[in-house]
Amino acid sequence: MERPLTANIRPGEEPLNLRDYERVGGYQAVHKALAKMTPAEVTDVVKQSGLKGRGGAGFPTGLKWTFVPMGRDAPARKYLVLNADEMEPGTFKDRFLLEGNPHQIIEGMIIAAFAIQADVGYIFLRREYAVAEIRLRRAMAEAYAAGHLGKDILRSGFTFELRLHTSAGRYMCGEETGLLNSLEGKRANPRAKPPFPQTSGLWGKPTVVNNVETICNVPHIVNKGAEWFRSLSRTEDSGTKLYGVSGKVNRPGLWELPMGTPMREILEEHAGGMRPGLKFRGALPGGASTDFLVERHLDVQLDFSAVQAAGSRLGTGTIIVLDDKTCPVGMVWNLEHFFAQESCGWCTPCWGGLQFVEHILLALENGAGRAGDLEILQSHTRLLAPGNTYCALAPGAMEPLQSALKYFREDFERHLHERRCPWRQQENRTAIPSKATK
Ligand SMILES: Cc1cc2nc3c(=O)[nH]c(=O)nc-3n(C[C@H](O)[C@H](O)[C@H](O)COP(=O)(O)O)c2cc1C
Ligand code: SF4
Repeated sequence: MERPLTANIRPGEEPLNLRDYERVGGYQAVHKALAKMTPAEVTDVVKQSGLKGRGGAGFPTGLKWTFVPMGRDAPARKYLVLNADEMEPGTFKDRFLLEGNPHQIIEGMIIAAFAIQADVGYIFLRREYAVAEIRLRRAMAEAYAAGHLGKDILRSGFTFELRLHTSAGRYMCGEETGLLNSLEGKRANPRAKPPFPQTSGLWGKPTVVNNVETICNVPHIVNKGAEWFRSLSRTEDSGTKLYGVSGKVNRPGLWELPMGTPMREILEEHAGGMRPGLKFRGALPGGASTDFLVERHLDVQLDFSAVQAAGSRLGTGTIIVLDDKTCPVGMVWNLEHFFAQESCGWCTPCWGGLQFVEHILLALENGAGRAGDLEILQSHTRLLAPGNTYCALAPGAMEPLQSALKYFREDFERHLHERRCPWRQQENRTAIPSKATK
């Protein structure tokens, strides 16, 4: 089975330097794109490949690039931004690529920039990814020295300057317009859309924001073609996917597998099944901001449409497993605590609503729930639904909650009626300190 994204990553070891990367075929796609293809041809092969963005929303990458103004009348300056802010609980796939093969990222960025004719690129990197920063800086220096970055790359006439920006770090900095504000030195509040970044992005200029995993696919598509990329998958959505698993499984980790690999196969064959004495109760299939799937969904093939049909989202493809000895109310409280802290405060339903949701979940978990609490929680899943807030943070935060209320309702009710957390009692654990809400 082909694993184009991770084939040259050696976990626990330094990433390939420029010479070794070139020895395994690195930068050949840059040569091919710049010497033999037009920007429109590059965009077209990416479009034909069916690559969908791996940052969470799954928007078709080639199509996104076509929204950028091209030709003589296009603005002189355009930007390509790599979204490497990965901060969602449970998600660690981009880190693996950033640390494991920085030249693959640089190569993907050069080609994407060529396709949209951007002359400046930014890597927007989460500050905590310190190892990735060191490795990226080293790879960028090598790429500049070899003439792969900078002016007149490979004497093609194409110029691309790449800069690395380490972010002070908020979850909102990962939302693409919040990210652009942050790069401009402003607060990371989102921008109203339209205009979309592709026409008015960084400093008002056309800008494409792409995820790390998305960009890493680009050199391979240019090298091997759209058909090859489609053939990697087990379903309609093309390519491979980095699937991660966390929770009480035998082997938590990350694997590059064909897009559309069933959840059962990932959990049993790759993650080694549940730890002894524990049973699978449910999982968030695409990271913290997706809906729970349960046992009857284990055979769902994890791609964008199948997961949606099952009532959730592929998101980042990183699965968070809930076992039968972990309290679902406590787990959801933990996630809402994160989302409430990360709200940028721009819209009232989000900053006020998330704090309220978190407060109620904590009270339930500590045995201090009140009649009507579950209805209040349920009403917030409607109040914070898509369309009621500026960005997708709040609706995303409601996904684990709404699905937990659906699948684990009796657990919420037990907390309410027994005035205690059944799991906490069982494990003789104490209440969560209420200062956790501050
Ligand atoms: C609150 C929030 C946080 C996000 N964080 C990230 C992130 O860390 N990395 C990322 O690539 N996309 C993130 N996204 C999605 C981006 O807004 C955007 O859709 C993505 O970077 C586009 O890249 P793609 O088309 O290659 O997927 C986030 C979205 C929201 C609403
Ligand atoms: S939904 Fe939340 S994070 Fe998004 S803009 Fe509104 S307040 Fe900010």
